[in-house]
Amino acid sequence: MAAISAPRGPEFARIMGLGAYRPSRVVTNAEICERIDSSDEWIRERSGIESRRFAAPDESVIDMSTAAAGKAIAQAGIRPEQIGAVLVATVTHPLQTPSAAAAVADRLGATDAAATDLSAACAGFCYGVSLANDMVRGGSAEYVLVSGCEKLSDFTDSYDRSTAFIFGDGAGAVVIGPSDEPAIGPTIWGSDGSQYDAITQRASWIDVRDHAVDFPHLTMQGQKVFRWAVWQMAPVAAKAMAAAGVAPEDLDAFIPHQANMRITDALIKTLKLPAHVPVARDIRESVNSSVASVPLAMERMLEAGEVKSGGTALLIGFGAGLVYAAQVVTLP
Ligand SMILES: CC(C)(COP(=O)(O)OP(=O)(O)OC[C@H]1O[C@@H](n2cnc3c(N)ncnc32)[C@H](O)[C@@H]1OP(=O)(O)O)[C@@H](O)C(=O)NCCC(=O)NCCS
Repeated sequence: MAAISAPRGPEFARIMGLGAYRPSRVVTNAEICERIDSSDEWIRERSGIESRRFAAPDESVIDMSTAAAGKAIAQAGIRPEQIGAVLVATVTHPLQTPSAAAAVADRLGATDAAATDLSAACAGFCYGVSLANDMVRGGSAEYVLVSGCEKLSDFTDSYDRSTAFIFGDGAGAVVIGPSDEPAIGPTIWGSDGSQYDAITQRASWIDVRDHAVDFPHLTMQGQKVFRWAVWQMAPVAAKAMAAAGVAPEDLDAFIPHQANMRITDALIKTLKLPAHVPVARDIRESVNSSVASVPLAMERMLEAGEVKSGGTALLIGFGAGLVYAAQVVTLP
């Protein structure tokens, strides 16, 4: 039997660079309420949302992903051709195949990089960080680009008041590469497919073809998801901190998925997060941009000086599947 050489990577990996892309068009609650029976006051009170960004009609997941990724690569200080793999986490790239990632890699000049999309909805960024961490440490790629990008405005029914106000567009990307010290803690992740219908598309593409149903927009059982997030996600976040050996008071930032300000507040309470720990509240202006929420919120906090580069942050993403992932990281 021939001896096969197994891949081997560095002992640790870290987030080396971060980039964000927010589309230019700001959409107010008032504009959303032109199509649904709701109000600016109700939306602010029940979700914490004040406005959102929508991409231009001709602006794609590939465009936004490339814009965010370019900034992440520049901050990481590497050349695009050094990237060994491109992971684009998204649920709104409108082609079944080919992947958005293949186009993003090409546009970036990440020639020869492995490229694939990742479907883990709002947990997609934390899934991507976990996979990239393992890929670097396992020797599959020296540098991995993880981009989380959504154009949810294409898949949201603007007349459905249970979803129209909550979803938005944007992209956030990171480069993950070798590190001399631990900078990405163990990921606590999982799924609960028994709640497959809690957030889903109204119909499949086969239904569209064979039964002439309408465009299959996203639908969400808001209360069900709300309860699940509030009760099930705090233990996941607590386990991620314990696995990393970090106590709540050691955190420099808490960056949860931006699903609802009340979910964030409930998590803070259950986790007994000290008041001095800054918490991401990007939902105000960036709504729930699914997979882009965590990296966009991270970028906003760093930009605003709420947390410094090198700080320790707890990340958690959760969404359609239902799926979830949390980890403690050192910020780029
Ligand atoms: C969507 C969400 C904001 C709705 O808030 P909620 O407090 O659960 O609202 P409910 O569905 O209980 O509805 C409360 C009342 O407001 C009404 N309502 C629902 N949507 C409304 C809207 N857009 N505007 C005004 N009223 C609305 C309901 O009809 C209900 O009225 P009633 O009390 O007279 O029956 C909330 O459920 C949520 O954030 N869920 C989780 C979302 C999430 O995490 N999603 C993503 C994971 S990726």
